[in-house]
Amino acid sequence: MVSAPPPGPPLPAAIQAGLIWLDPIRFVHTCHRRYGDVFAIRIPVIGTLVFLTNPEHIRMVTRGDPAIFHAGEAAAPLAQVVGRHSLLVIDEDKHRRSRSLMLPAFHGDSVRRQIAEMIAIIAEEVARWPVGEPFQLYPRMQRLTLEVILRTVIGVQDRHRLAALRAALPPMMEIGSPVELIPPPRVLLRFGMWRRRAQRRAAAVELLNDEVRRCRADPRLEQRTDALAMLVRSVGSAGQPMPDDELVDQLVTLLLAGHDTTATALSWAFERLTRHPDLLARTAQAAADGDEAWLDAVCKESLRVRPVVFEFGRKLTTDLQLGRYHLPAGVILAPSINLVQHSSRYYAEPDAFQPQRFLDQRPDPAVWLPFGGGVRRCLGATFAQVEMRTVLQEVLRRVELAATMAPDEPVRARHVTMVPRQGAVVTVRRRITADRLARAS
Ligand code: HEM
Repeated sequence: MVSAPPPGPPLPAAIQAGLIWLDPIRFVHTCHRRYGDVFAIRIPVIGTLVFLTNPEHIRMVTRGDPAIFHAGEAAAPLAQVVGRHSLLVIDEDKHRRSRSLMLPAFHGDSVRRQIAEMIAIIAEEVARWPVGEPFQLYPRMQRLTLEVILRTVIGVQDRHRLAALRAALPPMMEIGSPVELIPPPRVLLRFGMWRRRAQRRAAAVELLNDEVRRCRADPRLEQRTDALAMLVRSVGSAGQPMPDDELVDQLVTLLLAGHDTTATALSWAFERLTRHPDLLARTAQAAADGDEAWLDAVCKESLRVRPVVFEFGRKLTTDLQLGRYHLPAGVILAPSINLVQHSSRYYAEPDAFQPQRFLDQRPDPAVWLPFGGGVRRCLGATFAQVEMRTVLQEVLRRVELAATMAPDEPVRARHVTMVPRQGAVVTVRRRITADRLARAS
């Protein structure tokens, strides 16, 4: 068999980086149309990204040997934000050990214990929404999902500590531009944006360290249901608990990976629903009736048609033959969530929003992959889906949202997430009183 590198644009790497920076969606779709199922893009510093859009190839990657497909190395630049112990940036044995300590806190039973707290947070948030005037939902969803993580994952209840964390955490997670993630020479770390980043991280880490210390000393530790308390209680197979510095890095990771992603997914769900009056009405009724199957189908379809993350990465540690292509060690494989989920090969009318596709059906993991796949699949996938369903239900039980004839909001790239360009503008028509709610259900 003749072996060749995958095709891709014959442009200098800097120009390809510019095109992906300006309009990643258009660039990747154009390459897919022009070069087919496997294509390569080159970006300075990061190297060669090989996009995969064939479910067979993607399965080979997600089910492959984690020693060959390094997700942690592919995400290495993030270590400056999340810390070097973060689950996101480690591989192989270290990843397996940390993930097994963290998993129990994100199993279905543990997540279900958080629903009551989620409902309380949603009620507080919705009570602040204006009636009769349009507003951007995205920043409100960001506030809501941050609060959910602070109270259910880190388990903070004290008013003053919550206020301090609310102020310190978002600036730490803000990545001004992708340039900030390019590891600079050490000498530059004391200057400019790198110095500011280090200061923001230090302030947040101090607060999180304090939470870890308080949690270890908490006489109610055994009764606590938050993820931090479960992590503090858990010991690995070698009988070792997670050290404090590693715990703090994992808390930063959970905040970074779980806050803006879920806020974006929820903003899209409402953006899609308000542009489909019949589906909005059906979902409001499902919320009143507690019809979880329909609410779940809405969440799944929204994550399909508007995936929050467009691809996930695995750095090859050895050369690989992929069909007729030779891929050298060091390239980053990028299974494309967006291209697969928008392909008419796997979905009829792929651009249409049709929650009924997923009604009472488990999605095929080879073609529904908003949370990635394999041993690196999103640790918080169950948490995120329960949170999304709970937010949809509790919002639509409390307010009547107006449908809109406004055009679909375009997708805007914001670091690794794809957000609604106008911030998911919605209008609350009226609040639903407890009486009306009781009559409706
Ligand atoms: C709708 C919301 C979310 C989306 C779309 C999402 C998506 C993803 C994706 C695509 C990955 C990479 C998977 C891979 O490489 O195969 C990932 C990893 C991860 N996510 Fe999520 N995520 C969401 C919410 C959350 C939440 C709520 C949490 C935790 C509170 C979380 C924690 C993580 C962690 C820790 C990882 C790294 C897993 C590992 O490397 O073992 N995510 N997520």
